[in-house]
Amino acid sequence: MADQRQRVLATVDDTEAFGRELAATLRAGDLVVLDGPLGAGKTALTRGIAAGLGVVGRVSSPTFIIARAHKAGQRPDGTPGIALVHVDAYRLGGDLDELDALDLDTDLHHAVVVVEWGKGVVEHLAERHLRVQLTREPESDVRTAIWEWIE
Ligand SMILES: Nc1ncnc2c1ncn2[C@@H]1O[C@H](COP(=O)(O)OP(=O)(O)OP(=O)(O)O)[C@@H](O)[C@H]1O
Ligand SMILES: [Mg+2]
Repeated sequence: MADQRQRVLATVDDTEAFGRELAATLRAGDLVVLDGPLGAGKTALTRGIAAGLGVVGRVSSPTFIIARAHKAGQRPDGTPGIALVHVDAYRLGGDLDELDALDLDTDLHHAVVVVEWGKGVVEHLAERHLRVQLTREPESDVRTAIWEWIE
């Protein structure tokens, strides 16, 4: 599907708001792959996605634990939320055969899975995935997101 979209994100609040927007389009079982350099805003975007999905608990960088599962709470509009599994593949070095092996105590079919540094590592885990690429300019808060569903 060659339906690529682009958005300029001037502030971290814009990035979180974009995450909430994306979340409104996501369903349980969806895989989201976040790409972009250190500090590009992958975790900030995940925080927005989490808010939009309506999950319990604060999103932080999972760098030292590889993955964190957030249970479903309530969406901003009061409807039931969707659980979130937030993975940081940075340390996995391309060695993620099965997300299930992480033993997350969450049924991945009942969660949205967001993977930082997941490009080239986790795509095979789902039939399709949403790829979000974040770029940043030096000495600027401005980020650009390019996103597309890849089947
Ligand atoms: N427009 C913006 N969007 C996102 N973050 C921004 C923006 N402007 C400034 N920032 C700041 O940039 C930083 C982004 O950090 P974040 O942890 O989200 O990046 P990351 O891509 O997850 O990095 P890492 O690869 O280390 O996990 C935060 O400190 C945030 O406040
Ligand atoms: Mg991060």
